[in-house]
Amino acid sequence: MEELMIELNNITKFYRKRNKVIKVINKVDLKFKDDEILCLVGESGSGKTTLGKIIAGLIEPTEGEIKYNGKLLKQMGSKEAKEIRRAIQMIHQDPFASLNPVRSVYQTLSTPLLYYNIVKGEKETKKKVLELLEVVDLTPAEDFIYKYPHQLSGGQRQRVAIARALTVNPKFIVADEPVSMVDASIKASIINTLKRIRKEFKVGFLFITHDLALARLFGGDGKLGVMYTGRIVEYGFTDDIIGNPKHPYTITLLSAVPEPDPAVTRAKKRVKLRSDDIPRLDSLPDGCHFHPRCPLFIEGKCDKLLPELRAIHSRHYVACFVEDAERKILEMTREND
Ligand SMILES: Nc1ncnc2c1ncn2[C@@H]1O[C@H](COP(=O)(O)OP(=O)(O)O)[C@@H](O)[C@H]1O
Ligand SMILES: [Mg+2]
Repeated sequence: MEELMIELNNITKFYRKRNKVIKVINKVDLKFKDDEILCLVGESGSGKTTLGKIIAGLIEPTEGEIKYNGKLLKQMGSKEAKEIRRAIQMIHQDPFASLNPVRSVYQTLSTPLLYYNIVKGEKETKKKVLELLEVVDLTPAEDFIYKYPHQLSGGQRQRVAIARALTVNPKFIVADEPVSMVDASIKASIINTLKRIRKEFKVGFLFITHDLALARLFGGDGKLGVMYTGRIVEYGFTDDIIGNPKHPYTITLLSAVPEPDPAVTRAKKRVKLRSDDIPRLDSLPDGCHFHPRCPLFIEGKCDKLLPELRAIHSRHYVACFVEDAERKILEMTREND
């Protein structure tokens, strides 16, 4: 496979619980290539993990299609489908749940290497496992190779999970909040490892986080999708969105990001919403899902029609009926002073 193009058309994921329908993902369209960095941000419960798993082929959408190089998984032969599964790897959020407790680091990393015939024989396998441990900065690698998960810290486990994703030479990695459950002191060092891997292995990333500052740190040079209740409400190049946010929800998120300079953070005005309640996924409001909270909500429009993503220019899309949202919100916060 030369390159990998992933295309989501009208992806929807519903779960049925008793007689309720939980709408986790609502008609998402996305298209990206394996040389891209795409960050997905949104509050907890907005559907980030579900969308990541759909992209990695780990769960099936209820409606819509996902194509890899123009083909559905079910249209592929078993060899081709196995190749796609190899090409997209996932790093899960919880380093304590993602490693098998009865397998050593060597066993965890050697299994996929042997399954995909990437190495042969014990000597070559061990050499490759040691190499991978070096890549993820678990050094000296000899000290880690025969350890079990319970002998490792959360950060070290997450590094093993990263190494496992790399065993099969993926084209694209879905990293689901990879540092949200590790100690604050080592978050930056794991992000640096991932950034180096991005460049060294030329691997694309879907980087999922609830933290816009982290999205900027990891994928400031890539694209950003802002999720709200299972929809992508703003999409485009990260620097365009952060420098010039268009959706009232994105503007709200940005107003809450702390600045490096504490004085700037204090001076920055938090956007005041009409309500702090995130709507329930089993009773989403009509129209724009954000309208019950939105300070700019237009009666008769935002509560009636669901806005689709529209292009502001070729690098920036927003799903909102309001023009000039940032200026309007800024004026409102001034008035409230
Ligand atoms: N298997 C499932 N059955 C029912 N609801 C689910 C299931 N998986 C996820 N959900 C619900 O979907 C919503 C979005 O979940 P998730 O994709 O994990 O969001 P995020 O990663 O943004 O926090 C949550 O409200 C969650 O409870
Ligand atoms: Mg999640």
